[in-house]
Amino acid sequence: MTADDASTLAEALRDRAPSVPADWRVDVCARTGSTNSDLLERRDGAPCALFALAQTGGRGRRGRSWTAQPGDSLTFSLRVRFDGRADRLSGLSLAVGVALAEALTAQGFDGLALKWPNDLMRANGQGAGKLGGVLIELASAATHTDAVIGVGINLAPPPPGHYALPPAALFDGTPPQQDWLRIAAAALDALAAALPVFAAQGFSAFVERWNRLNLHAGCAVEVEGEMRALGGLCVGADADGALLLDCGDRIERVLAGDVSLRAPVRN
Ligand code: BTN
Repeated sequence: MTADDASTLAEALRDRAPSVPADWRVDVCARTGSTNSDLLERRDGAPCALFALAQTGGRGRRGRSWTAQPGDSLTFSLRVRFDGRADRLSGLSLAVGVALAEALTAQGFDGLALKWPNDLMRANGQGAGKLGGVLIELASAATHTDAVIGVGINLAPPPPGHYALPPAALFDGTPPQQDWLRIAAAALDALAAALPVFAAQGFSAFVERWNRLNLHAGCAVEVEGEMRALGGLCVGADADGALLLDCGDRIERVLAGDVSLRAPVRN
């Protein structure tokens, strides 16, 4: 891809994402290590979006990787500045998930759901598979916090391999570039519309919609945290983005961990 192709694609994205404010910089590159790392290195406070067609060293949660081949994955990051300290951003990754799931549904894709805290899921014939994920990295100063919001979405099924969750994709194979553009623009537009709402009202503006999309609503689940595992019935998220688990005698608020369905007990 030439520099001209990249700027044509960036212009097309901007044209199709009318919620993107005029002061946001929108860039597309053919290949990079990690769009999150690239935006973390940009020291100016200017809001920007960076899309990469291929990503060689992409990072996921808990040290996982997220590589992307051209056309097979939508990989991009946004860098936005919020007033105040990082603790005001609890629930941001869940709000991002709501905006993305709703945008993809509006583009005609069915079976979208959210898995606490950061996974975008899609029905794949054998239950639900992981369609995408969100990785948010923060840099705080006295008066503001810069958030780099990284998003990876499988357009085509990823190559066979060992994945923490079975994968899902939007298409059966690599889609034409028109579809990349359509989906990238829809995701960008949805986030550009959602982030000011989050800045003003926090996750409380999204919590009901998140709970409607909750993959595990009412299910017996186990949450693997850093220190311990906890089992219970998944109630949903609260207005701070914590996961509420009904443990029988009490409701536990879980702040971090990986959720999985609890294996049925055999008699
Ligand atoms: C996860 O599910 O663990 C989160 C995956 C996030 C991957 C995206 S791809 C674009 C951005 N750049 C990165 O290095 N990671 C995020």
